[in-house]
Amino acid sequence: MTAQIINGNDVAKEIRAELKKEIAELKEKHNLVPGLVTVLVGADPASQVYVGQKERTSENLGIYSERYDLEENTSQEELLKLIDKLNKDPKIHGILVQLPLPKHLNEEEVLYAIDPKKDVDGFHPVNVGKLMIGEPDYLPCTPHGIQQLLMRTGVETKGAEVVVVGRSNIVGKPIANIMLQKKEGANATVTICHTATKDMAFHTKRADILIVAAGKAKAITADMVKEGVVVIDVGVNQIGTTADGKRILSGDVDYDAVKEKAKAITPVPGGVGPMTITMLMMNTVRAAKVAAGLT
Ligand code: GUN
Repeated sequence: MTAQIINGNDVAKEIRAELKKEIAELKEKHNLVPGLVTVLVGADPASQVYVGQKERTSENLGIYSERYDLEENTSQEELLKLIDKLNKDPKIHGILVQLPLPKHLNEEEVLYAIDPKKDVDGFHPVNVGKLMIGEPDYLPCTPHGIQQLLMRTGVETKGAEVVVVGRSNIVGKPIANIMLQKKEGANATVTICHTATKDMAFHTKRADILIVAAGKAKAITADMVKEGVVVIDVGVNQIGTTADGKRILSGDVDYDAVKEKAKAITPVPGGVGPMTITMLMMNTVRAAKVAAGLT
């Protein structure tokens, strides 16, 4: 079997077109413009790229966008003061503090300070808890994007054996929780594997849908999956550099070998990646609608 390639760029484009239309309608009918602020502390090059992409995508869709670039040595107090100001700003419906923060800052305290109604990352414990009890407000962007990829490529999740590799708060735990919900695009039997799992292949071989966020290049090999599996690869690992200095990327799955056994698979890049920012935009539109009493 040669796999269907799940094209994240195409799915993200489709969702962005829907959002653009919805944003135009919100402006026309309700004079409502969703607003997103990004806060970057320090000058980490990868974070600068991500924040720039978020800003550009917001503007393209008609979302009001603000960006704060704070010095590396910003104090906890200054950052909390800014978040407090943004929590109170009616133009701003979503607040995103780019992670990781510099080491001297307390990440947990910063994330907890964001008003849960403006927590478009879905990282605040209130939103994590709401997901856990099946009443989610904001789903974290990468897992939400994975669910959309599955739904929009017609992958049946109800009753499926979903195996998640990785237990991070950003991907592994929330995607497991999302897949467990008694809802459309979920309702699966979920297993989570992690670094202490005794026999990883025993579990991964049982998967109808395998979601891998292990943070290790090519951790999943062809002998670890069954014929006809659907594979979602969240990993982005640099495994080398081309002669002209470009990064060579690999997912957490041995793509070339696994695609020969899989029914469908996401590539890296061009699979899950493009979905993450798109879901941030979706959460921001939702936050604006909630603030205006439109949902
Ligand atoms: N850094 C890497 N991924 C993310 C994300 O989804 N949200 C935030 N705030 N920072 C990140």
